[in-house]
Amino acid sequence: MKEIDWNILGFHYTEPEYIVRAGFHDGVWEEPYATQDKYLHLHVSATCLQYGQEAFEGLKAFRGIDGKIRIFRWRENARRMARSAEGLYMKPVPEELFGKAIRLALEKNIDLVPPYGTGATLYFRPLLIGTTPRLGVGPGQDFEFIVIPSPIGPYYPGKFHCTTFVVNRHVDRAAPFGTGQFKVGGNYAASFRATEPAHAQGMDCLFLDARYHRYIDECSAANFIGIKKLKVESFQYEYLTPRSSAILPSITNDSLMTLAKEMGMKVTRRHIRLEELSEMSEAAACGTACVISPIDKVIDPERGKTYSFGAEPGPVLTELYHALKDIQYGRSEDRHHWCEVIEN
Ligand code: PLP
Ligand code: COI
Repeated sequence: MKEIDWNILGFHYTEPEYIVRAGFHDGVWEEPYATQDKYLHLHVSATCLQYGQEAFEGLKAFRGIDGKIRIFRWRENARRMARSAEGLYMKPVPEELFGKAIRLALEKNIDLVPPYGTGATLYFRPLLIGTTPRLGVGPGQDFEFIVIPSPIGPYYPGKFHCTTFVVNRHVDRAAPFGTGQFKVGGNYAASFRATEPAHAQGMDCLFLDARYHRYIDECSAANFIGIKKLKVESFQYEYLTPRSSAILPSITNDSLMTLAKEMGMKVTRRHIRLEELSEMSEAAACGTACVISPIDKVIDPERGKTYSFGAEPGPVLTELYHALKDIQYGRSEDRHHWCEVIEN
């Protein structure tokens, strides 16, 4: 295996030794198996290629301060993938099969778990695709579940670093009753027209609701969080995050809401008007890949407005970031049993 410099890893694919696969044919799931073959022998008319019958997930394993490996909330990813599968008329992967495949992918690539202290983690990309050849528009009945592990570093440059987001009213990521609540490849392809120009300028996109272009939906690959002071001179804060049928229910956001409540914050999920950004003291994107990525500015070019939150991460988001990381790295008690600890 090639030497990896863990400290300079970004969010890029590093070829693992093994991937894990399990097919679904004639109504039965195969036992997951590890293979070094990274290519599929796939029919050109497979429903994943013809009609986008594909869903994926993202979760991480962390090497803790005690040397043990912790897989974070994999059951939540399994359940979300089952909902995505149902949303696209695919066969849901049974939860225990999902867990088995993740553990096998970890066991077969144990040397790819980055050492503690590097900030890098082992990311798992579970993938579910429709493999039945079909010309008529409709779902198939054969599927392939694949887990691709890859060590990764931070999603945005710098470990805990501010990113600028831009609003684009000419591209919608997902419709109110569309597939935004599912983690399916089509949502990401649909956003490239907005994200690629933003990335070219070192920024990312903040998507608004597709019906009115009035409320904040989410970022291209992360939920949105805003922090408001409850009273001007107080240290009482509100954790605000959008309610929308078009956004992905983020497991990171769910974890952070729990931690925020424990810190005594008011936690509110509701429609958030874009203009409300001017009442927030801090804002961030949150997700497995980007953890908490504080936002320094949201630019709305069409309206000639910029919402600024300061060039450095704010105190509330910093505290939440450390509280989450402490659990993931085994530095604080896992009160909610979020981590599966692997003794190795
Ligand atoms: N929203 C979108 C569109 C995403 O791609 C992701 C990443 O998975 C998230 C939100 C965050 O979800 P999670 O915290 O479960 O990774
Ligand atoms: C994640 O946060 O795990 C994601 O999948 C986001 C993105 C890289 C697609």
